Amino acid sequence: MKKIVILISGRGSNMEALIAARDAGNLPVNIAAVISNRPDAAGLETAARASIPTHFINHKAFAGREAFDSRLAQCIDEFEPDLVVLAGFMRILSDGFVRHYAGRLINIHPSLLPSFPGLHTHQRALEEGVRIHGCTVHFVTPALDHGPVIVQAAVPVLDGDDEASLAARVLRQEHLVYPQAVRWFAEGKLTLENGRVRLAAELAEPAALVSPVLAASGIR
Ligand code: GAR
Repeated sequence: MKKIVILISGRGSNMEALIAARDAGNLPVNIAAVISNRPDAAGLETAARASIPTHFINHKAFAGREAFDSRLAQCIDEFEPDLVVLAGFMRILSDGFVRHYAGRLINIHPSLLPSFPGLHTHQRALEEGVRIHGCTVHFVTPALDHGPVIVQAAVPVLDGDDEASLAARVLRQEHLVYPQAVRWFAEGKLTLENGRVRLAAELAEPAALVSPVLAASGIR
């Protein structure tokens, strides 16, 4: 069974979705550890309650990004994970760190990349007046919020939306697509070819990719 390590900085609801999928028998992975760069990350308690080993590495205790990243990598590598899963890990990662985990480091971002990299994605989507917003799971490359896309989920932006309502609609999709993407990885159904993700033939059907997501959005 593939081993994963999850990195968080806060609430950890995406991490929770991964744990729930594992517990429901829908995600055949061993969650070897959860690591946070913040001591007060609520997700640490959730992970501990699920009997997953937790670690906290304070980025403020290190002189620079490289020093922190190298301690973080040391901690991760002790678990020998097949995949490192960023789940609301709010740190920019150094090139060396990203290269070390090339092809086995994934992230979820609350926008349809390449639109709205960075912070405040929902507010910016509202300000731009886009009609479709969403989230993206992607392999991490040195460029921030960039890299080969694994799966995306789209949601409509409604006239009455504010940042909170839009964020909540997107988050519901995050909780569906992140376990799905990790499962595809665990089952060997993802390959990287020339910087693009290829999915196993049965997944590449438009119906398999799009319909469940739209149906699950709860919006007709
Ligand atoms: C999620 O919306 C995730 O997409 C976002 O932070 C939130 C974490 O929530 N990540 C990023 O913005 C990374 N660029 P969670 O802690 O409840 O999973």
